[in-house]
Amino acid sequence: MAEKTSRFPGFYKLTLAERVSKIADWADLSVEEAAVLNGGGLQPQQADMMIENALGTFELPLGAACNFLINGKDYIIPMAVEEPSVLAAVSNAARKIRAGGGFQTESTDPVMIGQIQVLDVPDMETAVAAITSHKAELLQTANECDPVIVKFGGGARDIYGRPLPHTPIGPMLIVHLHFDCRDAMGANAINTALERLAPRIAEITGGRTSLRILSNLADQRTAAARAVVPADKLATGDLSGTEVARRIEEANAFAVADPYRAATHNKGIMNGIDAVVIATGNDWRGIEAGARSYAGRNGRYTALTDWHVNENGDLSGEITLPMAVGMVGGATKVHPTAKTALKILGVKTATELGEVIAAVGLAQNLAAINALATVGIQRGHMRLHARQVAMAAGASNNQVQRIADLLVQEKNVNIARAKELIAIS
Ligand code: MEV
Repeated sequence: MAEKTSRFPGFYKLTLAERVSKIADWADLSVEEAAVLNGGGLQPQQADMMIENALGTFELPLGAACNFLINGKDYIIPMAVEEPSVLAAVSNAARKIRAGGGFQTESTDPVMIGQIQVLDVPDMETAVAAITSHKAELLQTANECDPVIVKFGGGARDIYGRPLPHTPIGPMLIVHLHFDCRDAMGANAINTALERLAPRIAEITGGRTSLRILSNLADQRTAAARAVVPADKLATGDLSGTEVARRIEEANAFAVADPYRAATHNKGIMNGIDAVVIATGNDWRGIEAGARSYAGRNGRYTALTDWHVNENGDLSGEITLPMAVGMVGGATKVHPTAKTALKILGVKTATELGEVIAAVGLAQNLAAINALATVGIQRGHMRLHARQVAMAAGASNNQVQRIADLLVQEKNVNIARAKELIAIS
């Protein structure tokens, strides 16, 4: 059998139905799973079971990013996002990275950090020592909260005290629990363990416990992706690949050094990351919180990526960030579209999912800074944005593309002009 490839040249030119059929074949989707893509997603009755005061559902476009080769395996990436250009840009960047052998990824174990706040501690040093001397007992108590995670090889890994001598209300002790969550995002597992541990922590430290909650700065649970783009793949009509590679290095250096630029640079990364996190039913606020705090962990907000010209003159890039995603529990197993998205992705573990997400972030960033450092992003973006403008101006489904084309031709992509064009068409 031919190797399964995620290279689908001309995928964007297919009709919606043709695209769904191609992806259904590729991912071996059942009729029901494919129907989910065609408006059969989350039903209001299911939404009513998921949140309080439900009114209905909120839809986002779901697209497929192509060309991803990660650790030698091909992936089609489902992405839920409302912003034009994101899918086209990331697929294009993944194609360039593919030419350099694709992405290489790695992860730490899926270890989340949980925190217990301890106040009114009589003696900090004695309290920290007490946590250490009771470590075995405390880890065992934490493990008793979730025998299933322990059965699958996860569970409590470490517990220790971190004094915070200077807070606005004076010193406090923070106890950190490290808990390996395996394929779960782990919020429930770790928060349950923290609540169970707190009374005993109060007893052995002589203090009073208050907050018991996980930290989204999941720096013990990171995913990393690396890629090399052969310089010649970056060449444009006007610029050599070597020149473009150098400009991308300069663009990255700007974001490393300047928080104003880093904020936008990282936003571009999160365009890709959030879209996969949402499509797979994961907690994108948690991933956002983790990424942003990790980018500022050394006291100055900086870029999440590094791009530089390597010794061969090619472009080397990498990204590392916290990656608290799960494949069990939460919306991943309840939301019909998330279930189908995970099937399309074909990942077997939460760790594999996290590594794919890191690769998407790296590719999305390459796409953005490649465009910014050469032609600028408006040219490509306006072409795609024009369709949304035409829709917002009230174009009917069969008018949208024609009105959008006219707006682009006139280099005048705005709602007022779109309304005029609709009125005279
Ligand atoms: C737009 O959504 C994202 C960019 O601003 C990212 C960047 O500037 O790197 C293009």
